[in-house]
Amino acid sequence: MTPLLQVRGLKKTFGGIQALDGVDLQIASGEIKALIGPNGAGKTTLFNCLTGMTRPSEGQIFLDGATPLKGLLPHQITKLGLARTFQNIRLFDSLTVIENVMVGAHCRFKANFLDAFFHTRRHLAEEKEIKEKAYYFLEVMGLLQQALNSAKNLAYADQRRLEIARALASEPRLLLLDEPAAGMNAAETAELDQLIVRLKEEFSLSFLLIEHDMKLVMKISDSVIVMDRGRSIAGGSPEEIRKNPAVITAYLGAEGGHA
Ligand SMILES: Nc1ncnc2c1ncn2[C@@H]1O[C@H](COP(=O)(O)OP(=O)(O)OP(=O)(O)O)[C@@H](O)[C@H]1O
Ligand SMILES: [Mg+2]
Repeated sequence: MTPLLQVRGLKKTFGGIQALDGVDLQIASGEIKALIGPNGAGKTTLFNCLTGMTRPSEGQIFLDGATPLKGLLPHQITKLGLARTFQNIRLFDSLTVIENVMVGAHCRFKANFLDAFFHTRRHLAEEKEIKEKAYYFLEVMGLLQQALNSAKNLAYADQRRLEIARALASEPRLLLLDEPAAGMNAAETAELDQLIVRLKEEFSLSFLLIEHDMKLVMKISDSVIVMDRGRSIAGGSPEEIRKNPAVITAYLGAEGGHA
């Protein structure tokens, strides 16, 4: 079957740093793929290349085996169905929680500038629909009670959840999550496990998930890819990866934990 996303020989240099040094990767439709690797391995840079925020130096990215993503702008890639969250949370602090989600839906607006300016019936109907959807995404993420609060006043774990709600609002097919459990306690992380699985089912989503929490990775991912120094050094089922000596050396370290 044609993979949903295919990455071939992706390279990115920053000055003298080879952040990506020939990354190959495939994500099947409906798959939860975890992306692990030590600090500085190039994981976030890969996300930036996939979402058009960084231009790769070399390599190819294809959606559905046919649509090239390289060279497209971030909003064009969002519209094709890739959405992401950020390792360093990037919310609109001055907006409310619900407004942050509505911003995420922007790429699905059909009304044009004039519709918006004159508040045409089409624009109002669309805005109503988007607001209703945004409330639903907040409900799914357990943030309904916070809808009218300012985003900057949310607790840390809630800010991470709001990032996911905002990404959902763009109605993606593939959701890229950059360390969604970072800074969450054990109970919050366990809730996130279940939530990701629910999102996958309910919205027919596929995931690429950068995560250092190995318990979460082992529990919910269908497959794991390991990066080290800009390269994909191993791939397989969580069980295979856990036993892979190269992975243990590169990532897990002697104690089997993340540094
Ligand atoms: N905009 C940039 N300019 C210069 N160097 C960069 C830039 N972005 C990333 N790098 C470098 O590229 C390498 C890969 O960084 P990246 O953030 O992709 O790693 P990572 O795997 O996400 O690490 P972490 O687990 O710490 O988040 C690092 O050496 C980093 O310093
Ligand atoms: Mg990173």
